[in-house]
Amino acid sequence: MSFSIAGTGSAYPARRVTNDELATIVDTSDEWIRTRTGVKERRVLTTETLEDIAFEAARRALEDAKVAPEELDLIVCATIRNDYITPSLSCMLQKRLGATCIAFDINAACSGFLYALDVADGYFARKRVKKMLIVAAEAMSKMLDWTERATCVLFGDGAGAAVLCEGDDLLSLRLSASGNAESLRIPNLEGKSPFSKLPAREPFVYMNGQDVYKFAVNALCRDLEAVIADAGVRQEDIAYVLPHQANIRIIEAAINKLKISAGKYLINIERFGNISAASIPILLDECRRKNLFHKGDLLALSAFGGGFTTGACVLRWSKES
Ligand code: UT7
Repeated sequence: MSFSIAGTGSAYPARRVTNDELATIVDTSDEWIRTRTGVKERRVLTTETLEDIAFEAARRALEDAKVAPEELDLIVCATIRNDYITPSLSCMLQKRLGATCIAFDINAACSGFLYALDVADGYFARKRVKKMLIVAAEAMSKMLDWTERATCVLFGDGAGAAVLCEGDDLLSLRLSASGNAESLRIPNLEGKSPFSKLPAREPFVYMNGQDVYKFAVNALCRDLEAVIADAGVRQEDIAYVLPHQANIRIIEAAINKLKISAGKYLINIERFGNISAASIPILLDECRRKNLFHKGDLLALSAFGGGFTTGACVLRWSKES
């Protein structure tokens, strides 16, 4: 016994920032951003908080699943940067939703939703939960140096959620981690200890784009091949691939390497940029609400990012459209 996806939800800030608008604050162009990444615009928090969009995504997922907050046995949030170090985002959501269950956050950067699904699998397997909520929510705009064109054009803010019930949707799942702060990192605030002898670091995204690009292409192709084989199905049997939305060229590399036709790769990077852990659940929710998925469809999810971490899985969609 594992889990089934009973409902999905997503939410993002109202403020839309186009590439042309970014070109007024850093030395870039719509043409460079579109051709190098596939991004046309992204959403950015202004008056909303991370908790606001996480709550809205959660509320929509619960409504979709027809599950009341009091029925939840566990809330797990995947986020790189909650507004508080403590309490966790999941504790704040528990309070705001009116739930009473246990709640904790995980940080696996862009792979956070897949890591949360693996946590879920364990809780369901141990029969510790019957209903659970996963929310992946990211405020990337608060971690960007908005004078640094190499990074500020890539990311956006948003939240995606899924309510899980007992079931058998999960056919295979793999995670990986290989520690690397050289190529991708976001330093934390240093605090004000009078005893610290360490230099303060800028609390912004640093990325060696080309290193991460090579890692990402390799991870996406390797993990999709592996989880599809683990699930005992053929690549041609996959109905849809939901890849992490970091760069359209990374997805195109997988299209060229694997035996899954291009039209099966779901893409929304043009409207959101890279929203770290929230990218895949937002994509999942958008496609589900368009009734793209039919009962029995095989979905392959694959994420990669900071850590380095990766996560991928194959799900058999069981919800009626
Ligand atoms: O979610 C975490 C996972 N993250 C990823 O998977 C990201 C992986 N990396 C990438 O997607 C790509 O490496 C980037 C999109 C970040 C960069 O694309 P690239 O083709 O690797 O560009 P580059 O870093 O090699 O830079 C090429 C040129 C440079 O100029 P010179 O040295 O050739 O004169 C950069 O200074 O493009 C310049 N450049 C820009 N130009 C205009 C860098 N950023 C910009 C910009 N606008 N925003």
